Amino acid sequence: MHIIIRETHKAMSLEAARAVASLIQRKPSAVIGLATGETPIALYEELIRLHREERLDFSRVTTFNLDEYLGLAALHPGSFHHYMKKRLFDHVNLGKDRIRMLSGRFAADEKDAISRHCEEYEQAIAAAGGIDLQILGIGANGHIGFNEPGSSLGSRTRLVALQKKTQQDNAVFFDDDPDKVPHHAVTMGIGTILEAKSLLVLALGQHKAEIVRKALEGPVTAMVPASALQLHRNAIIILDNEAASLLTRDTDQSLTPPI
Ligand code: GLP
Repeated sequence: MHIIIRETHKAMSLEAARAVASLIQRKPSAVIGLATGETPIALYEELIRLHREERLDFSRVTTFNLDEYLGLAALHPGSFHHYMKKRLFDHVNLGKDRIRMLSGRFAADEKDAISRHCEEYEQAIAAAGGIDLQILGIGANGHIGFNEPGSSLGSRTRLVALQKKTQQDNAVFFDDDPDKVPHHAVTMGIGTILEAKSLLVLALGQHKAEIVRKALEGPVTAMVPASALQLHRNAIIILDNEAASLLTRDTDQSLTPPI
């Protein structure tokens, strides 16, 4: 794991955008895994700026999003489809047929249709040649994607139930009302995520410090899904000072990250 610590959210996001942009410059047909949540918003803003002002070209890039809520229309303002459209897709030259997202159109009891959909998603990732770079945030309970504590470290794309804590944390996208947050979601599995060739993990704020410490310095356990990041051979973790504040390991900031 290569840990990069920056003073501010802005500096962290610029560093992350630099890593994404350098991948696209090296490999214009890169396959990039995308995340939602508050953490990557400034990263997407910077990618849009790079596209507009420095001609960063997304025309051959393929994207796969990590997850989606179940039971929301694609245009629902709380859906990840809506988030991605508003925060990135509407503002860069990604081809529509190169944007892949899990669908939330199912009811939770349509188990067979959901597993077929998830299987097709896995096949689409494989057909694209696998994910070159997966962007990730870390939930306050340690989830990655929507892999809640207890998820198998080998899990694949599937239907999951969301914990109350996750519903509370994500209420900001649902009029601050946790009861409006769906109970189920579809998510890439931890096993799926670990197959990405590289991981770019972002965490910011004091409220993430404890879970960042557990994920990066604690034992690898299904009860802290983000601890699975320790198993990846090419993971870059970008933190702000606050999120990094409880780390005890020596984080050498002089080495250049591998991406
Ligand atoms: C959300 C998403 C995750 C995200 C995480 C952290 O629920 N499913 O992909 O990384 O929670 O969110 P935030 O960045 O808002 O803290």
